[in-house]
Amino acid sequence: MKRGSTLQIGIGTLFALVSAAIQAQDAADIAGLGKKLAANNCAVCHTFGKDEPNGQGPNLFGIVGRPMAAQPGFKYSAGMKAAAAGKVWDEHLLDAWLSDTQTVAPGNAMTYFEGDEARRRKIIAYLNTLH
Ligand code: HEC
Repeated sequence: MKRGSTLQIGIGTLFALVSAAIQAQDAADIAGLGKKLAANNCAVCHTFGKDEPNGQGPNLFGIVGRPMAAQPGFKYSAGMKAAAAGKVWDEHLLDAWLSDTQTVAPGNAMTYFEGDEARRRKIIAYLNTLH
């Protein structure tokens, strides 16, 4: 009885470790796909590397967890600054932003949206790795 429950715990732990590893691999794959999407869709205006210069849009290194409109040296639009008070970028806000920037910050200057939910999820998974 005692031996049996020890074995069960052992198998349970192993299963948890394996499924955590599979989940981590899935997350890495999704972020990898997101990196390609970002290169193709965002990189005309944004840089992603640490300390890279701003482009037409602000540098996005560390965007998850950063307050809105807070990248040093970037001249944000009046609309963006007006909407920014108290807002910090998280996955939910990024999803809303990429779906329709104008509902998040009316009058902002980013002329891009991504209507495909699965593509947004991948892009945001990639942004989440930039720390
Ligand atoms: C045509 C140029 C352009 C493209 C393409 C573009 N952006 Fe932007 N983005 C901007 C501009 C300009 C701003 C600043 C808007 C303002 O100040 O009104 C901005 C702002 C942002 C912000 C807010 C940053 C901050 O510091 O608060 C995020 C997040 C963002 N973009 C993500 C993306 C992502 C992700 C993509 C690709 C899926 C993308 N953008 C594609 C031009 C672009």
